Amino acid sequence: MKLFIDTGSVAEVEEIAGWGVLSGATTNPTLLAKEEGDPGDIIRRICELVDGPTSAEVVSQDPDGMAAEGRALARLHPQVVVKVPFSAAGLAASRELSSEGIRVNMTLVFSATQALLTQEAGATYVSCFMGRVDDISVDSAAVLEEIVDALGPDRDAQVLAASLRNPLHAVTAARLGCEVATVPAKLLQQMLVHPLTEAGIEKFAADWQTRPELAEWLEALVLRPEPAAR
Ligand code: E4P
Repeated sequence: MKLFIDTGSVAEVEEIAGWGVLSGATTNPTLLAKEEGDPGDIIRRICELVDGPTSAEVVSQDPDGMAAEGRALARLHPQVVVKVPFSAAGLAASRELSSEGIRVNMTLVFSATQALLTQEAGATYVSCFMGRVDDISVDSAAVLEEIVDALGPDRDAQVLAASLRNPLHAVTAARLGCEVATVPAKLLQQMLVHPLTEAGIEKFAADWQTRPELAEWLEALVLRPEPAAR
């Protein structure tokens, strides 16, 4: 499963892109509204940093407005994927944009029926929200499983798990066979952590330091010139 970062913050993307685990990014109007600066500059910078699909969302609610905003967003950078909220108008806009070769990420999908319609409208990604489903006391894993099953193994659209609120949501999405999970920076940081990893690193370092000559050996090894290439 590919990992995207779910953010409008260039600083967050700058930090986490350095880990080498990101394949793309998603933004939404709420996330971008929290940031200072020109949204176009932000979207372009995120595209450059992740060097992969980066969703930018339309806010119009009629098909023509959605398509016009989608074309304009797609012109910002070749990596832009146009995020379209699910609705009858969104389906029409998705069909139009995808027929022009513009990739669509249909967002706010909460059921298998919506996912089936989304796939038929030519969307590249179906964004299935987990956290917001759990918020209304419905089991997000069960909903996601139904969506993945309904679209089947040879699906045209990729299932993108969104609205992740805890690291287990990412694990559930992977186990169910989602192609992508978009993860907020805070959760990506949480996914790093395990107390046994930290304890293990401290123990290796402490044991190595009991033999100072080993540190000298490694330093010399690092400084040794590489053999000339043949
Ligand atoms: C991403 O594509 C979605 O817009 C985002 O994951 C929504 O997350 P939220 O439900 O935490 O706002």
